[in-house]
Amino acid sequence: MNIVVVGTGYVGLVAGACLAKIGHQATCVDIDEEKIKNLKEGKIPIYEPGLSEVVKKEVASKRLSFSTSLKDVLDQAEVVFVAVGTPMRRDGKADLQYVEAVAKEIGQNIKDYKVIVNKSTVPVGTGKEVTDIIAKYYKGSFDVVSNPEFLREGSAVEDFMKPDRIVIGAGSNKARDVMLEVYEPLDYKKITVSIESAEMIKYASNAFLATKISFINEVANICDIVDADVEDVARGMGLDNRIGPKFLKAGIGYGGSCFPKDVNALNQIAGTSGYDFKLLKAVIEVNIKQRLLVIDKLEELLDQIKDQPICVLGLAFKANTDDIRESAAVDIIRTLTGLGANISTYDPEAAEQAKEIMNGGVKFFDDPYEATKDAKALVVATEWPEFKKLDYKKVASLMANPKILIDGRNILEPEEMRKLGFKYVGVGRGKL
Ligand SMILES: NC(=O)c1ccc[n+]([C@@H]2O[C@H](COP(=O)([O-])OP(=O)(O)OC[C@H]3O[C@@H](n4cnc5c(N)ncnc54)[C@H](O)[C@@H]3O)[C@@H](O)[C@H]2O)c1
Repeated sequence: MNIVVVGTGYVGLVAGACLAKIGHQATCVDIDEEKIKNLKEGKIPIYEPGLSEVVKKEVASKRLSFSTSLKDVLDQAEVVFVAVGTPMRRDGKADLQYVEAVAKEIGQNIKDYKVIVNKSTVPVGTGKEVTDIIAKYYKGSFDVVSNPEFLREGSAVEDFMKPDRIVIGAGSNKARDVMLEVYEPLDYKKITVSIESAEMIKYASNAFLATKISFINEVANICDIVDADVEDVARGMGLDNRIGPKFLKAGIGYGGSCFPKDVNALNQIAGTSGYDFKLLKAVIEVNIKQRLLVIDKLEELLDQIKDQPICVLGLAFKANTDDIRESAAVDIIRTLTGLGANISTYDPEAAEQAKEIMNGGVKFFDDPYEATKDAKALVVATEWPEFKKLDYKKVASLMANPKILIDGRNILEPEEMRKLGFKYVGVGRGKL
């Protein structure tokens, strides 16, 4: 089928490349001219394992192409995926301006029946809103469907190609059948529901996962008081099939471009519907508090933060991505520099992005050992596998006393680290 994907970010580029990989003719559109120019030259704008290979292969096979003009490529499309950003507004609601702009552009340029797919994460009711915007300009027949995306950054290609489920929210059988045809090559569970239910599935899924994280973080905080180890507790809980081991990893809280904004958006949807979603409010509050625990622990162990050399390993909001949106690491660094700390930092992929948004007080290093040199405290803020494998004996020898090691992701062995001379502090790993 001929498919146009509007918005060539983490979701749009992965979706476009993977739709080409499963045999469709895909064109990725973006208003960011630099991004499209780079893609046409074979340069991939984001770090995502395996993506570069798929893009290169599909471009070579001529199934994947790029454009800055939706108008130029719209005619050829049978299906138009909308994958533009829906960032969080100041009031916590989803900002729909980009989705609305694309809907208007489609309305102004569409000439025949097409299925318009909301792949962006959007509040319940957006399918109808997009329909209304297009219908304002175009009087012919078209359908809007909701097809939320569940890929995770860091394993996006794999997740797109092998999804747990494909959710299709359609208001007509015709649109539903077109979507089933699009995904026909992917032999995974497909569920067809109403547009509103599909929109809700996405928010409810992310809110549930965020709840699991905040829950285990609360358990971790109690573990610190009662001298239990949350890693053992989570293992014991996760072996229960009804609970499962995933998203039971205590740490410095969830971040990224999705969880914080989607949890807030669902809270706002509830509020504007006249419903008080108490549980979700607590999830948000716990997550904010969890990041600040690192600061509290450092204050306790260093007496004061001002002028102290502190190294933060990791800037990305999680491992295997260069995405720093709503990253706990970035938040912690900002708070520490605000308190006058001298921060040194290293991240294998996300440093360039972080440099653009950080003010003074932060030194970026290309080598993790260089970053730890002379630091009195080290915070492991992202669970990059290479941070687990560092030579911590060497790190200990490079650092200055009192060699505090705050393992914000619980990736290290407390006893091993203590033997090497660190004052090790994990999250929920017992009393200090
Ligand atoms: N990133 C994720 O892991 C993930 C996972 C699932 C769902 N989502 C959802 O998918 C959507 C996209 O997220 P993302 O992370 O890919 O965003 P992104 O910010 O990486 O990419 C969005 C792209 O849209 C482009 N754009 C904006 N307006 C445009 C227009 N009028 N025409 C063409 N292009 C335009 C931007 O230039 C940008 O390149 C969001 O709603 C997000 O919540 C994201």
